[in-house]
Amino acid sequence: MHANSEDDVFRQLHGLRVAITGGTSGLGLALVEEFLDRGAQVAFVARRREGVAEVVHEHAGAHGIVGDVSRKDDIHPIAIQILAALGGLDVLINNASNLGPSPLALLADTECEDLERVLATNLLGPFRLTKALLGALASSAREGPGAVVLNVSSDAAISAYPRWGAYGTSKAALHHLSRIWNEELTAEGIAVMSLDPGDMDTPMHALAVPEVDRTQLKRPETAAREFADAVAKLVAFMNRSSEKMVPESVQ
Ligand SMILES: NC(=O)c1ccc[n+]([C@@H]2O[C@H](COP(=O)([O-])OP(=O)(O)OC[C@H]3O[C@@H](n4cnc5c(N)ncnc54)[C@H](OP(=O)(O)O)[C@@H]3O)[C@@H](O)[C@H]2O)c1
Repeated sequence: MHANSEDDVFRQLHGLRVAITGGTSGLGLALVEEFLDRGAQVAFVARRREGVAEVVHEHAGAHGIVGDVSRKDDIHPIAIQILAALGGLDVLINNASNLGPSPLALLADTECEDLERVLATNLLGPFRLTKALLGALASSAREGPGAVVLNVSSDAAISAYPRWGAYGTSKAALHHLSRIWNEELTAEGIAVMSLDPGDMDTPMHALAVPEVDRTQLKRPETAAREFADAVAKLVAFMNRSSEKMVPESVQ
């Protein structure tokens, strides 16, 4: 019984069309690998061409896109390439992120331009890319059980950590944006969630807290498995809900 329900969860990802921003390092790379392993079709985005080419070379079937989500002019080209590669979209994961000035600075010492850069990547990027892909997500929701947007959050979205001002502000705004968008899009069959992966051993964490014992940190692969489970469970739930909504006469 338990094995069957686990199998069901895994099956839910087969053939799913998934786009992941920031797919060449840390959590994003682990997500690319996890979703490919579970049979999803995956497109990913990052700024550095060499990093994108390397991931494509090492992961058969992954579609790499070079682009910067913080740049308004890059958003439509990124969205068009995602749709061209996957033929539609069921799941969008806004994972790419900017930490802000490093070493981390007090807000009073944070340049306005640094705050702008962090907000452009962590808030405006996910907002613009989601908006550009809403039509495709709505179309997926009409044809299948439902579509999912997963915005990668942080405990810094909730806790007021000194020196995490730019990053924490951007993640708090992203978290609230996700909650409001979820309320607005539920009727369209699109779920928007915001999840904190926990403290992981990644290049970004090393930049933020270089003195930490990295062996104590969570592996990004563990967080990727948890995120994929969360997406799979949500899709399975939406599937059951949409079945219930089909009138008896057409079942
Ligand atoms: N690490 C942690 O402990 C931790 C804790 C809580 C939350 N998070 C969140 O988890 C997510 C992943 O973090 P991570 O630690 O895995 O980061 P990471 O190792 O620094 O990887 C960031 C990825 O995003 C790409 N990227 C950065 N800016 C981009 C942009 N403007 N446009 C497109 N791609 C961009 C990078 O490639 P390029 O440089 O080539 O663009 C890279 O692939 C982030 O949302 C982060 O805030 C992390």
